[in-house]
Amino acid sequence: MSKQYRIAPSILSADFAKLGQEVTDVIASGADMIHFDVMDNHYVPNLTFGPLVCESLRKVTDAIIDVHLMVKPVDRIIPDFIKAGANIITFHPEASEHIDRSLALIKEGGCKAGLVFNPATALHHLDYVMDKIDMILLMSVNPGFGGQKFIPTTLDKLREARARIDAYTAKTGREIWLEIDGGVNVSNIAEIARAGADTFVAGSAVYGAGKDSDPHRYDTIMGALRAELAKV
Ligand code: DX5
Ligand code: ZN
Repeated sequence: MSKQYRIAPSILSADFAKLGQEVTDVIASGADMIHFDVMDNHYVPNLTFGPLVCESLRKVTDAIIDVHLMVKPVDRIIPDFIKAGANIITFHPEASEHIDRSLALIKEGGCKAGLVFNPATALHHLDYVMDKIDMILLMSVNPGFGGQKFIPTTLDKLREARARIDAYTAKTGREIWLEIDGGVNVSNIAEIARAGADTFVAGSAVYGAGKDSDPHRYDTIMGALRAELAKV
């Protein structure tokens, strides 16, 4: 019985000059959601895009937009993403002075909420907020850039997060997604799934796949990722 797996291409590695097309193309190739990396050159040493870009993409797709905030502070910008049509909003506990309040702000706006854990950040921030969490996102690279190498100790952390989620779901009946972000590709996605992830961000592996001139390159890479997941 195969589990439901979700693949979330990160547009960080897309061609920004044709972003709308890049989004609709990966969705047409079977992607389940769009991972939207917001960086502020303050919390992380890079700068990307904000709510205005999210609002524009909302107009071209009905797919889930999974907003990963790598910004500090977070509360000022959360309502803007809610208005811009985000479906999921996650943030790093280190970037919020009041984690419970930030989660509540996201939930009150009708979005799903989640916490993101850097490679060295412990999972204890979850202890008293599980009821407000819809997704746990584990970083398998240090945030800020696409194309980095998967940090293998994240596999143990995934098993730990999986156990927390399963215990919580057994008690409450409520589902929480477990997403992995950083260095995911065809050669490691199955192992990552076996460690407990159900939702997979893939930036460079998807948008960097094949030749620009090949109109089927996203079909090919999405098919390859799914084929690996089917083996789990
Ligand atoms: C890194 C971002 C990731 C990034 C992943 O800070 O959060 O979402 O796009 O890129 P890859 O899949 O290339 O590691
Ligand atoms: Zn991300």
